[in-house]
Amino acid sequence: MRRNEKTNVENAAEFTSVLFTVVKAFEMEIIPAGRIVAQIGETLILTCNTTGCASPSFSWRTQMDNPLGGTVNNNRTYSTLTMNPVSIVNSHDYLCTVFCGEKEKKEKSVKVKLYSFPSDPVIEISSSLVAGEPVTVICKIPDVYPSDHLEVLLKKEEHVLHEENFYEDDSTNTETKTVTYSFNPMADDIGKEITCVAKLLIANMDFEPKERVTSQKLNANFGPQNTMITASPGNSPMEGDPLKLTCVTESSPLPQIVWRKHLADESIQHLIKNNVLSIPHANFTDSGLYICEVINLITNKTEKATVDIVIQGAPNTAELSIEPSTTVQEGQNVSIQCSAESNPPPKIILRRKSDSADMWPYSEGRMLLLPSVTFLNGGDYECVAENKFGKSKSEITLNVEYGPKNTMISVIPATAVKEGETVTMKCTSSGNPAPVISWKKKTVTGEPEKIFKDATLTIQNIKSQDLGLYECEAYNQFGKEEKAVKLLVEGRLEKPDQMIPLIIAFSCVTAIAVPVVAILIYMSRKAKINGSYSLVKALGLKV
Ligand SMILES: *[C@@H]1O[C@H](CO)[C@@H](O)[C@H](O)[C@H]1NC(C)=O
Ligand SMILES: *[C@@H]1O[C@H](CO)[C@@H](O)[C@H](O)[C@H]1NC(C)=O
Ligand SMILES: *[C@@H]1O[C@H](CO)[C@@H](O)[C@H](O)[C@H]1NC(C)=O
Repeated sequence: MRRNEKTNVENAAEFTSVLFTVVKAFEMEIIPAGRIVAQIGETLILTCNTTGCASPSFSWRTQMDNPLGGTVNNNRTYSTLTMNPVSIVNSHDYLCTVFCGEKEKKEKSVKVKLYSFPSDPVIEISSSLVAGEPVTVICKIPDVYPSDHLEVLLKKEEHVLHEENFYEDDSTNTETKTVTYSFNPMADDIGKEITCVAKLLIANMDFEPKERVTSQKLNANFGPQNTMITASPGNSPMEGDPLKLTCVTESSPLPQIVWRKHLADESIQHLIKNNVLSIPHANFTDSGLYICEVINLITNKTEKATVDIVIQGAPNTAELSIEPSTTVQEGQNVSIQCSAESNPPPKIILRRKSDSADMWPYSEGRMLLLPSVTFLNGGDYECVAENKFGKSKSEITLNVEYGPKNTMISVIPATAVKEGETVTMKCTSSGNPAPVISWKKKTVTGEPEKIFKDATLTIQNIKSQDLGLYECEAYNQFGKEEKAVKLLVEGRLEKPDQMIPLIIAFSCVTAIAVPVVAILIYMSRKAKINGSYSLVKALGLKV
C-alpha cells in the first residue's frame, strides 16, 4: 500500500515535474533577431528576453570586446541595450549571455548594420540663364553612409547630364557628398527641370528609401542680379525731350521695383513702382541721381542701381520780377530779379532795354538793385539768359510815378504878333501818371478868372482885353507844377505909327510840386504868382 501510495505520490511528482519542464524550459532570444539595419542617428533598442528562468542574469558584449556604445537596463526576465542615437561605433555583432542559476547558460548574437541616408538631395543652381554664361548645378546629399555605395545622377528632364559614383570612397562616418556639373544652357532650357537622383544601393541591407530624388526648375528663384538702369536717349538729354529710364535686372520670380530720386537736400523722393520711369518732357529740375531698387521676395535679395541724369538745354523763359512792385514812387528802393534755369548754367545780363551795353545800372547776376529810384529809372528792363544752347530774353516795365516836372509853355508865333492876329499858347509837362493840364487867365481888375481845360490855348483876333497873366497848371496825384506867361498888347494894327510889335513876355514860374492840400495850394499859388513877376524882372525881359 505504502509503495503504491509512494508510487502515486512519485508519479504525481514526476508528472508535475514533467509538466513543469515542458511549459517552463529555460529559453532566451534577442529582439529584433538576426541582421539589424539601423539608420545612424536613430534610436536602437536590443532586448534580450528569457522564459523559463526565475531570476536570470544578463551580460552584453560586442565582438572583440569593443565598448557597448549604449546603456543596459536589466529587468527580471529581460535586459535591454539602448543605443540613442545609434552611431558608427555601434556597427558590431552584439552578444547577449544569460545565466540561469549556476549551471544553465545560453547566449545569442545579432549583427548591427548601419547606414545613413536621412534626407533628399539639395539642388543649388548657381547662375541665372543668361545667354552664353554657364549654369552650374550643385547637388548635395547630406550625411551619407557608407558613401562607397552612393551613386548620383543629374538629369535635365529625362536627359542624363552627369553620373557620378563614390565607389572609391573610404568612409568611416557620415559625409555630405557634393556633385557639381556645369553646362551651357540653351534658350529653351528655361523652365526645364533639373533632377538629382541619389541612390544608396547596398544589396544585403533592408531599408527604405534607397533612392532619393530632388528636382528644381532651371529658372527658379534667383536674383536679382546684374541690375542696371538704361537711360534713353542718354544720361544728358535735352530739356523738353522725353526721358525714359529702364531698370533692367535678372530675377526670378519677377521682382518688385521701386524708383527713388536723391534730392540735393539729401532727402529721397519716392516715385513709381514699375520698371520704366517715363518723363514725357524733361525739365531741368528732373536732373539728379535716380535709384532703382529691386527686391525678389522669394530669394529675399535686394539690389540697387543708380544713374545720374543731367538735363541740358538753352535757358528756359527768364522770369522777371520787381520788388516791391512794378509801380513804385520816386525814392523807393527797387530790386529787379531775373531767374532762368539751364544746363550749363546761364550767363545772365539784366539791364534797362534802352541803355547801351555797359551803361549803369547793369547786372551780370540775377538781381539789379536800384536804390532810391528817380523818374529817370523808369522804363523797360530786360533779362537775357544765355548758354551754349541758346538764349532767352524777357522784359518787364518799371513804372516810376512822380509829380509833374519840366512844365513848359511855347507860344506861336514866338516873336512879334500884331493886334488882330492869332496867338497859340501850348503847355506841356512830364509826370507819371501823365499830368492833367489846364490854363487860367488872371485879370487885374478883379473879374473872375477864366479857366480853359485844354493844354493848347488859342486866342484869335487878339485884342487889348486879352492882355494879362496866363497860367498853366500841370497836375497829377503826386503834385502839380505851374508856369505863367504874360501877354501885353502894346499897339493896334490900324495905327502904323503907334504900331509896336506885340510883345509876348514869358514869365516862367517854377512851382514846387506839393501834395493836394487846399490851403497849401492856395498859398503856393500866391507865392508863385508873386515869384513870377520878380522872375520876369530878374530875367530882364521887356515888359
Ligand atoms: C518575452 O517573451 C515572452 C514570451 O514570448 C513575452 O510574452 C514577453 O512580452 C517578452 N518580453 C519582452 C520584454 O519582450
Ligand atoms: C529676409 O532678409 C531679412 C534681412 O536680410 C530678414 O530679416 C528676413 O527674415 C528675411 N526673410 C525671409 C523670408 O527670409
Ligand atoms: C533804401 O536803402 C537804404 C540803404 O539800404 C536805406 O538806408 C533806406 O532806408 C532805404 N529806403 C527805403 C525807402 O526803404
